[in-house]
Amino acid sequence: MSFSYQIKDLSQYKEAYKKSVEDPEGFWSAIANEFIWRKKWDRVLEWNFKKPEIKWFVNAKLNITENCIDRWAETQPNTIALLWEANDPAEPSRSITYRKLLFEVCRFANVLKNNGVKKGDRVCIYMPMIPELMIGILACARIGAIHSVVFGGFSAQSIRDRINDASCSLVLTADGGYRGAKQIPLKEIMDVALRDDTAVKKVIVFKRTGVSVSMQPGRDIWWHDELKKMDDLQSFECTAETMDAEDILFILYTSGSTGKPKGVVLTCGGYMVYTNYTFINVFQYKPRQIFFCTADIGWITGHSYIIYGPLSAGATTTMFEGIPTWPDSGRFWEVVDKHKVNILYTAPTAIRSLMAHGLDPVKDKKLDSLQVIGTVGEPINEEAWHWYHDHIGKKKCPVVDTWWQTETGGIMISNLAGITPQIPSFATLPLPGIQPVLMDENGKIIRGSDAAENALANGKKDTSELLTGNLCIKFPWPGMLRTTYGDHERCRLNYFTSYPGFYFTGDGCFMDTNGNYRITGRVDDVLNVSGHRIGTAEIENAIDMEPGVIESAVVGFPHEIKGQGIYAFVIHAEGKIDEDAARKKIIGAVTLVIGVIAKPDKIQFVAGLPKTRSGKIMRRILRKIAEGETENLGDTSTLLDPSVVEEIRNGKI
Ligand code: WTA
Repeated sequence: MSFSYQIKDLSQYKEAYKKSVEDPEGFWSAIANEFIWRKKWDRVLEWNFKKPEIKWFVNAKLNITENCIDRWAETQPNTIALLWEANDPAEPSRSITYRKLLFEVCRFANVLKNNGVKKGDRVCIYMPMIPELMIGILACARIGAIHSVVFGGFSAQSIRDRINDASCSLVLTADGGYRGAKQIPLKEIMDVALRDDTAVKKVIVFKRTGVSVSMQPGRDIWWHDELKKMDDLQSFECTAETMDAEDILFILYTSGSTGKPKGVVLTCGGYMVYTNYTFINVFQYKPRQIFFCTADIGWITGHSYIIYGPLSAGATTTMFEGIPTWPDSGRFWEVVDKHKVNILYTAPTAIRSLMAHGLDPVKDKKLDSLQVIGTVGEPINEEAWHWYHDHIGKKKCPVVDTWWQTETGGIMISNLAGITPQIPSFATLPLPGIQPVLMDENGKIIRGSDAAENALANGKKDTSELLTGNLCIKFPWPGMLRTTYGDHERCRLNYFTSYPGFYFTGDGCFMDTNGNYRITGRVDDVLNVSGHRIGTAEIENAIDMEPGVIESAVVGFPHEIKGQGIYAFVIHAEGKIDEDAARKKIIGAVTLVIGVIAKPDKIQFVAGLPKTRSGKIMRRILRKIAEGETENLGDTSTLLDPSVVEEIRNGKI
């Protein structure tokens, strides 16, 4: 099936953009009209960015799985919905057609129902990258249960926090998972997460690695046993629950600048329309193409572009269980050749780490099926962009640099493959429907092109200073977050108060004179480590739990592969300590509290931290020291004790 709203050339992009700003409701309703609804909307949009309150497709009814599965199971039943590649290249891959996917999802949806799950209940999913993860997610959506997927790299404590925050009543997990040469004991970790009281009544365990696990009677049940019960009942059908467009589809936890991660809430109708629209337009998806997004489903990229975007377009989506560097660093390229992938979507950190292995792992690969390649998750440096373009895309595939966030649901700023111009290291232009603005520190809109053009007219060559600001969005789009679960005030404070009347992204940005955006990174206290979002406050809390630690301050520093590394400055109670042993303990504490992804790369023990007289840590100074800048630390005269800076600088590692 081809989509009437697929943009086919630059003039259509301009036209669509113009229409989307002049008549957003007309624009989005024309697109939404092409989906299957039980009942259409009374109004397209109601919104208020002050409260905030955002509703798309008001009073419309639907079920997203009918759009992602049933309609394709009917019109193209034998098209492969999911291609799955195992961690171990020797293990056979699996493919699931749309017809089979419908069957599997209905069957498992009945398992959920049979275990007491009802519409609106929260289900925590902590699973490896296997087809059953996708089946579990879609089965939740089928019956209107809210899924909350937790990435496999999080610790027991992080899982517990997420389970408690959403009062999940059921958990889907596996005995273990494979990641390269390692096995992750998922069930064992889940057991620790559930040791204290939670609302969880049932844990359904998929057998993946065969490792022995303890099964708590009455609570823990095997996935295959539950399926068998369905076979006995022969209940393979499961009518999709009728959902309001604004009912919650899922919660996904993400880090902010303060305290614990927050549960970003995305809703059924708007998210469906938005992920589909962006998938079709950014990647210029054509029927029968094979799409491969290398993200983990534990993150938003996996939700939107392994599952909901591609499936709502009837595409073949690829899911890979393993890692790019095992058994060797040619693994991604091998998967591309094996499955004849046409569109590849990966992260700059993966590109940089593979680039570091040289061209040998690429040389013997064809990569001739590729037509479009893309990146997401962090700024891509020019060197990595060119390597990807030249050696993977063989200079013939457009590269899409897609900027977006968990909170935006789908891609916001990106070139459209082969349609709008690509510029290395620029996400370029907003998608139709997206109205970004650059703000200066005082909340004044930077006038972009006008200001730059005036400056250029006056003979000024470098306009970068004029055109750098904080990125905000001034009008709602269907995929955006509606609230943070259980705490609406937090949503308001986090995203809608820095610049009243605007959604604030937390990102800094530069715009060229043609209106192209280059996202430069977070301006709040959030780090982006290998494309994973982690709050510095979260890491500090974890470090501070370690006995002997008095206080800590965490900042990011440029890291060749990871994009950003984690640098911790720590004050320890005892004067002379065995620093290596103390470092190990701190790393252990962070791994326990958050997970392996938040391990500091560098830990420097200091006697004091640079604080203002009001007790605020001056992170700007620490950031500069961590970046290796020893001069130009800026004004330190407002510090309580300027001498600590000298000491920290001298002790830099
Ligand atoms: C960063 C991932 C530059 C940005 C989809 C954003 C990017 C954060 C890009 C969101 C890009 C994402 N260029 N920076 N193309 N894409 N980012 O929520 O800082 O895991 O705010 O969503 O990643 O990370 P999140």
